[in-house]
Amino acid sequence: MTREPTRRRILSGMRPTGKLHLGNYYGALYNWVKLQEEYECFYFVADWHALTTEYEDAANIRDYIPEMLMDWLAVGLDPEKSTLFVQSALPEHAELYLIFGMLTPVPWLERNPTYKDQVQELAHKDLATYGFLGYPILQAADILMYKAQGVPVGVDQVPHVEMTREIARRFNHFFRPIFPEPEALLTEAPKLTGTDGRKMSKSYQNCIYLSDPPKLISEKVRQMVTDTQRPYKKDPGEPDRCLAFPFHRLNLPQEKLDEIVVECRAARLGCVDCKMMLAEALLANLAPVQERRHYYENHPDEVRDILLAGNARARRTARRTMAEVREAIGFNLDVQLWS
Ligand code: TRP
Repeated sequence: MTREPTRRRILSGMRPTGKLHLGNYYGALYNWVKLQEEYECFYFVADWHALTTEYEDAANIRDYIPEMLMDWLAVGLDPEKSTLFVQSALPEHAELYLIFGMLTPVPWLERNPTYKDQVQELAHKDLATYGFLGYPILQAADILMYKAQGVPVGVDQVPHVEMTREIARRFNHFFRPIFPEPEALLTEAPKLTGTDGRKMSKSYQNCIYLSDPPKLISEKVRQMVTDTQRPYKKDPGEPDRCLAFPFHRLNLPQEKLDEIVVECRAARLGCVDCKMMLAEALLANLAPVQERRHYYENHPDEVRDILLAGNARARRTARRTMAEVREAIGFNLDVQLWS
């Protein structure tokens, strides 16, 4: 194992709300995999966070946990390098969440921009719950439990990391300085849209999933919206306007890209042919990922063991932090009165 105490610590989580698609892959996971080489990483399945919005369909969350784990392993998260675990297996997260709840002012939660956006976006759900308002407190508990210095996230999560810093400061001030203030490591997410040109999202049914069969991937790529100002092949196209081209950039070598740009602008290369080149390159790049996924699909016991080992490893750190927290607050009576 290659863990040394001097490596900086990273933590991130993902809610199990569906199979992972290319937006998740290039937007987050790709970066998580790279970070493993340099940092001590903790990655976890945020199932309690999923419950804040999906409490009416909790059975789905359960089913998505192994799916998400298989996707993670398939893209190259390595349980030898990173600690992979599931939030609900560690009651310590709930305990720290409770304690942070005591010292977090409600107005901090109410003015959180991500909260306001989500309540609007998910207007069809009843999100006027205590748990949903407290979502960032649980996230702060996730992060501070491991004293992570870096939190790789997308821009929408920056307010949560900011609040985590404020909660850390407040705890350190009232009790004892235990917690470092983490920083958001902004993932430079390429602008990727779904097949219909809108943001790639499960709710729009426009996703290409990592686990889609190759034929389906080709078919979806063929349907992708390209340059909407180029109705016919005889019209010159513009790759900078093309909604498929960001995917080309991620999957084709530079010289091929240069050639496509020239041919597209000259109206010599049509969109369907161009997308077929993309499909071929994408499938080649995804082949090892899909192969690993099939392996884990056929070895569910291995997936379970990886998770149990990760949970146990995470819990050792979580227990240590909670002992410190109780001691700082003075609520370690079991030690004080009975030892
Ligand atoms: N809120 C994050 C999201 O929706 C998921 C998450 C939960 C998380 N706890 C975290 C991310 C801790 C980073 C660190 O994407």
